[in-house]
Amino acid sequence: MRRQVLLFLSVLCLGYVLGQVSYSIPEEMSKGSVVGNIAHDLGLDLKRLKSGKARVYTGGSVECIGLNKERGVLLIQERIDREALCGETTPCALHFQLILESPMELFRVTVEITDINDNTPSFTNKEKRFEISESAVIGSKFVLEKAVDSDIGMNGLQRYSLTPTDNFVLKPGNQAGGSKKVEMVLQKPLDREKQTYISLLLTAIDGGEPHMSGTMQIFVNVLDVNDNAPAFAKPLYRAKILEDSPKGTSVTTVSASDKDIGSNGEVSYLISTSERLLSELFKINSETGEIILIGGIDYEKAKKYEIDIEVVDSGGLSDSTKVIVDVIDINDNNPHINIVSKSESISEDSPPSTVIAMLSVNDPDSENNGEVECNIDGNIPFKIQSTLNGFYTLVTEVALDREISSHYNVTVTCSDEGVPSLSSSVTLTLQISDVNDNAPVFERNSYEAYIVENNTPGLSIFTVRARDADWNQNARVSYILEDSSVNGVPVSSYVSVSADSGVIHAVRSFDYEQIKDFHFRVKALDGGSPPLSSNVTVKILIQDQNDNPPQVLYPVQTGGSLVAEMVPRSADVSYLVTKVVAVDVDSGQNAWLSYKLQKATDRALFEVGLQNGEIRTIRQVTDKDAVKQRLTVIVEDNGQPSRSATVIVNVAVADSFPEVLSEFTDFTHDKEYNDNLTFYLVLALAVVSFLFITCLVVIISVKIYRWRQSRIMFHSNLPVIPYYPPRYSDTLGTGTLQHVYNYEVCRTTDSRKSDCKFGTAGSQNVLIMDPSATGTMQRIQSEKSILDEPDSPVEHHGQRH
Ligand SMILES: *[C@@H]1O[C@H](CO)[C@@H](O)[C@H](O)[C@H]1NC(C)=O
Ligand SMILES: *[C@@H]1O[C@H](CO)[C@@H](O)[C@H](O)[C@H]1NC(C)=O
Repeated sequence: MRRQVLLFLSVLCLGYVLGQVSYSIPEEMSKGSVVGNIAHDLGLDLKRLKSGKARVYTGGSVECIGLNKERGVLLIQERIDREALCGETTPCALHFQLILESPMELFRVTVEITDINDNTPSFTNKEKRFEISESAVIGSKFVLEKAVDSDIGMNGLQRYSLTPTDNFVLKPGNQAGGSKKVEMVLQKPLDREKQTYISLLLTAIDGGEPHMSGTMQIFVNVLDVNDNAPAFAKPLYRAKILEDSPKGTSVTTVSASDKDIGSNGEVSYLISTSERLLSELFKINSETGEIILIGGIDYEKAKKYEIDIEVVDSGGLSDSTKVIVDVIDINDNNPHINIVSKSESISEDSPPSTVIAMLSVNDPDSENNGEVECNIDGNIPFKIQSTLNGFYTLVTEVALDREISSHYNVTVTCSDEGVPSLSSSVTLTLQISDVNDNAPVFERNSYEAYIVENNTPGLSIFTVRARDADWNQNARVSYILEDSSVNGVPVSSYVSVSADSGVIHAVRSFDYEQIKDFHFRVKALDGGSPPLSSNVTVKILIQDQNDNPPQVLYPVQTGGSLVAEMVPRSADVSYLVTKVVAVDVDSGQNAWLSYKLQKATDRALFEVGLQNGEIRTIRQVTDKDAVKQRLTVIVEDNGQPSRSATVIVNVAVADSFPEVLSEFTDFTHDKEYNDNLTFYLVLALAVVSFLFITCLVVIISVKIYRWRQSRIMFHSNLPVIPYYPPRYSDTLGTGTLQHVYNYEVCRTTDSRKSDCKFGTAGSQNVLIMDPSATGTMQRIQSEKSILDEPDSPVEHHGQRH
C-alpha cells in the first residue's frame, strides 16, 4: 500500500484554535500504522503533550486514529474503509481535534483518506435468464444488469465485456459505465433448431491496478417458432399386403419429423387422395402415421394402390409423400369352367379323338395361383386336351361302345397350382347313341325240342329267343324260318315261327312212323339299317306213341284162301312148324313184340316162342293128332296201353299134300263155324254183288254226265272244272297212298336184341309200297290207312298242295 502523508500547518486566529494540521493516508492501513508526527507538525514539545494531557476529540464518532503522547504521533487505531466512511464522496477526510489543557489549546486535524482498489465490480445476481424467440429480429436489445464497484475513480467500474459474441454483442457506447444502461443487441439470428440454450458471460472490469472484475452468467433460452415444415422420412413408401388381410391390418407406418418443438412440432397425418375408393379402404392414424386397412381388398380388382399422404404441423406447414401398396395375391379364386359348346350325344361308332365338348377355364389369380390344369375323373374313355390358352377340348380316347355304357358322366376337374390348390369341376352327361353293331344272338348254339307224335296242328312246340345288345329298333328281333326242305317238302309245311315271339308251332300233326326228326334254321333279324342277323339250327325230335298195333307179315292172312303149314307126322319134339313174323312200326317199347298162343286145337302140341314167334311142337306128333290144327297167336306190343293183333295159323299134320287138301276142303266149315255162318256168307256175297253192280251203274252214269258237261265247258271256254292232280284223284279212287312211305323195318327175329336196327341215313331198309305191290303189301297198307283215321292221307294231300 502506498502511503501518502500530507502535512498542513495552519494557524487559526480563533482564541482556542491555535493551529491546524492535515494528513493524507490511504484507506485500509493496518492498525498501529503511523498517520503523522503531529507533535512535530504542530511544534509542540513532548512534555507539553504530557502536561497538557493531550487527547483526540472526535465529537462522538469512532476514534479511528489515536494519539501516542510518548511519541507524539497519530496512529491508526481502527481499520479505515474509505467506502464505508465516505461512499462516493470525494475527497474523503476525517476531521477531529487535538485538545491540550493548561493552557487549553485546540488543534484541528484533518486526515484525508485516499482510495485504494480494494473492491471488485460485482453484480447483484449471479445469473440472468432470457427467453428469446428464435424469430427475434437483428438489433433487438436486451437490458442487462449493471455491476457495482464501490471504488472510485480509476478504481471504479470501467467497462463490460460479453462473451461469446456469436449472436449477441454489447451495445456500444454504454461501456463507460456509471449509471448508464447495459444492453446486449442481437446481431445474428437465433435458431432454436441449432442452439436451444446460449450461455453468455458478462464481465464487468474496473480500472484499478491490477484490474478487478466481476462476472454474471446470462442464459438465453431460444424459444421455438414454427419455422420448420414437417418432412417425411422418405419420399415414397412401399408396402405389401395380402389380399385376404382382415380389416384393421396395419399396412405400414409413415413418419414425418418436424424440427420444431412443442405444438410447432406436432404433426398430423392425413390421406390427401380424394378418391373415394381409397378412403374407403385405408385410413391413417393422424397421430402415429400408421396406415390401416379398413375395407376389403381384392387382388383381382386392383393389384396396387397409391395413397397420397400429407402431414401438417399445427402451424399449417405440410409435406406429402406417397405410399404404394402392392396387393399380394393369394389363391382365393377357384378356376371358372365355362362350357363353350358340347354334344349331348355321340354315336358309338365315332372315331377316337372326336370332340365332344369345348371348355374355357380361367382363374383370375396370378402366377401359380392362376395356373390351371384340368383332368377327367374316373376311368372313362375320354381325355382332355389343352388347345388355346385357357381352352380345353374333351375328346374321345378310344372307340366307344354303347353296349358297355350307354352314357357317361364326364367330370372335368380343374385345379390351380396354388398352395393349397383350389379346384372346380363340371359334369357333362354324354349319351352314346346306338349303332346297329350287334347281331342278335340266340340263347343257345342249337336247339333240340321234342314233340309227341299225333299232336294237334298249331301246337306250340317251344320258343327260340335271341337277344340283341343294341338299343330300341336296332335290338328289335324278328324270327324268320329259313327255307329248307325236309324229305323234299318245304319245312314251312312242318313248322312255323312266330316272327315276334320266336314261338315255333307245329303246322301239322307229326307221325313218328313217317318222320322221326328233322331240323331247320331259324334266322333272327334285328330292325337296324342295315339289319344284322344270325341263325340257329333247331332240331325237332318226334317222340313215338303207341299208335300202331303189330302187323303180322307172315303167315299172310287172306280172307278166303287157306294156307297151312305142314307138319310131318314124323316131326320130332321142338320141330319148327313156322314162325309168326310181325312188325310194329312204332319204336322202342311200342314195337317190342311178344307172341302168345291164344287158342289152339291142341294146346299140348304147340307152343309159341314168346319173343321170336316161332311155333314149335312140344311133343311127338302122333297119328291120333288131327290133321287140321288151328292156332290163334296173339302178337302184343309193349306200349302203354299195348296194342295187339291176332293171327290164325293153320297147321296140317300130314305127310302128303292130298291128304291135306281132303282135310281142308271143309276147313272153313269147321265145327266151330256153324250153318248160320255159311248162310251169312252167302247173304253177304249176294249183297256185295248187288252193291258192286249198283256202283258200276252209278259210276258209268257219272262219267257220261261229266263227259257231256266237259264238252259244254270246252265249247264255252270256261275253266270251271276244278283241277284235280292225278295223284289226288288216284288216292280218292283207290284209297291207297301214292307217295312214298319210308318205314324202318324192325325185324322181329329177336325183338329184345334188335329193338330198332337203323340203317345209315343213306341206306335205310325201306319197304316200298306201291299199287303194284303184292297182295300182302296192299293189305298192310290198307289196314294202315284205316288205322291212321285222324290223319288221313287225303287230308295230308290237301295240306301239301
Ligand atoms: C350319371 O349321373 C346320373 C345322375 O346324375 C346317375 O343317375 C347315373 O347313374 C350316372 N351314370 C354313371 C355311369 O355314373
Ligand atoms: C348261318 O350262320 C352261320 C354262322 O353261324 C353262317 O355261316 C351261315 O351263312 C348262316 N346261314 C344263313 C343261311 O344265313
